[in-house]
Amino acid sequence: MSLQESSETAAEQRQPDVLEQLMFPPASLDPYPLYRRLREESPVYPSRFGAHLISRHADVNHVLKHHELFPGVPEEDMARMFPQGVGHEAYQVLVTSLVGSNPPKHTRLRGLVGSEFTFRRVDGLRAGVTELADRLVADLAERLRSGETVDLHRSVSIPMPLHMISDLLGVPQDERQRLSVLVPAMMNVVDPAAPPDAVAAADAAFRELGSFFDALIEERRRRPADDLVSDLVSVHDGDMDRLAEDELRTLLFTLWSAGFETTATGIDNAVLALAEQPDHRRWLAGDDKQVRAFVDETLRHDPSVQVAPGIRVAAQDTELSGCKIPAGTHVRLMLGAASRDPEAYPDPDRFDPGRTGTPALSFGAGIHYCLGAGLTRLEMSVLLPRLHQALPTLALAGPPGRRRSVPLRDFDSLLVRLDG
Ligand code: HEM
Repeated sequence: MSLQESSETAAEQRQPDVLEQLMFPPASLDPYPLYRRLREESPVYPSRFGAHLISRHADVNHVLKHHELFPGVPEEDMARMFPQGVGHEAYQVLVTSLVGSNPPKHTRLRGLVGSEFTFRRVDGLRAGVTELADRLVADLAERLRSGETVDLHRSVSIPMPLHMISDLLGVPQDERQRLSVLVPAMMNVVDPAAPPDAVAAADAAFRELGSFFDALIEERRRRPADDLVSDLVSVHDGDMDRLAEDELRTLLFTLWSAGFETTATGIDNAVLALAEQPDHRRWLAGDDKQVRAFVDETLRHDPSVQVAPGIRVAAQDTELSGCKIPAGTHVRLMLGAASRDPEAYPDPDRFDPGRTGTPALSFGAGIHYCLGAGLTRLEMSVLLPRLHQALPTLALAGPPGRRRSVPLRDFDSLLVRLDG
């Protein structure tokens, strides 16, 4: 039975939907064979979860770059897709965020916060990133050299982006760890597989993070510092029309929740790629361009964000890959599938930093292009060569601990040791 038929008759035959298949083995362990079938047999797949899944690179690219044809879905429609989240404040924050908004609101919000993420601002963080990377690598090296097996995910991959986003926002040192563990819990509200108690836990996590942000906003209002929260508070206080109180809070939630799990996965995947194919270490010993090529290929080969968080709706009757899409249809973009499309990337399953041609869609494209792309690239480009240089015999000490497969394909743990 084809994937298309299996979805159409799913209700009667209880065939698992593609999104369900992605949540369980074997696809949760390796989604790429399923993505290949999706691209080949059903490039516009009508999922039972209420959206059509778009998997070919050309189609995903088209939707991303034609926002007027595929705007973000209205909030009321979101409720149909994630009924388990409705009524929970965490859900409200996640669905009204930057990525879910349309122009002119999106243009205004992006204009306010985008200046903090320009090349110049991000490059200004280089010294801080370097200092942090040196410290994390030195600590890791000391533990490994004493014979310990170490969880690289918890000791390097998470702390690297966590401290950087915290520095940017102005989150004090002693609060970072506590607040970081709240994010996976919050994400449960938009995870279709999350059970009710996990969704309830999201509310508690939201309240804890919310109280912290309220206190931080108050503190920066009284005593501005050199950080993003102080800048945003002054915009808010200076011109009430430009950034409302709830928008400010939502922006902080967005940056906090988008800011480290994604990058941590990129770092984990890079270490995994090197452990599997040590030859690629030479890219990290090369110049900036080679290091950047390695980073970009890591993000293409196994993207952290497998399904784009923004849910779009067809504004008019249209067609993708010869399939009709009526106006009002919701679409979800399968970035993991698009990243392995042989039409865009010859021999797509091969990890090859030497690829040229089509740029990856790992950070999206168009008006919602990832705000943190520059920061992520900077962190990975500074950290990975240092890791390789200090620990050339770094090896896996067990199979990677995967957490989820969609929408993020991330890790719980990545145990490493020194080989020899
Ligand atoms: C490996 C790391 C990352 C990956 C793969 C990634 C991926 C993405 C993707 C695919 C989108 C587009 C979503 C869509 O169009 O539906 C996006 C948007 C976004 N990302 Fe990232 N991201 C990463 C890191 C970060 C970081 C570190 C931050 C924060 C500093 C961040 C903040 C955002 C924001 C705010 C948006 C929404 C932008 C808008 O709607 O205008 N991301 N990201």
